[in-house]
Amino acid sequence: MQMLNLLKCLDKLHKQHLKIDQLIDDLEEISGHSFDFDFDRIDITVSDVLKYTREHFHDEEDIMRKLDYPKIDAHIKQHHSLIDTINKLCYGKTHFISDPTENLIHFFRENVAKHIAIEDEYLDEFIREIFREAVNGKRK
Ligand SMILES: [Fe+2]
Ligand SMILES: [Fe+2]
Repeated sequence: MQMLNLLKCLDKLHKQHLKIDQLIDDLEEISGHSFDFDFDRIDITVSDVLKYTREHFHDEEDIMRKLDYPKIDAHIKQHHSLIDTINKLCYGKTHFISDPTENLIHFFRENVAKHIAIEDEYLDEFIREIFREAVNGKRK
């Protein structure tokens, strides 16, 4: 993969992480008024969270494949497990009337954040190493 393309991919992944974070903030904001839930808005935002997270995982996996990333199997396994739980939290019967998104928000703040901080950080470091090698002339 050319360095410029790789740089663009890396930038895209970072922006997607920020966007996911923003959606969770939005969800927290919308569902923070327990006396007056806007269920339509909550539903739309929950679908966006699921759709966007799937897209992000797909893009990240695509980059890992293109780069022959050595930890790809473990990373994809984590994505699958996260998506399974997110799916259940979005559409399963785990919603509470007192706060319909509490579990989903909690899961993102804890588990998805941990995945980004650990697994995605390994990938980030792997990509940075490719850049360093390119700068040093070991790679085209
Ligand atoms: Fe990831
Ligand atoms: Fe990620």
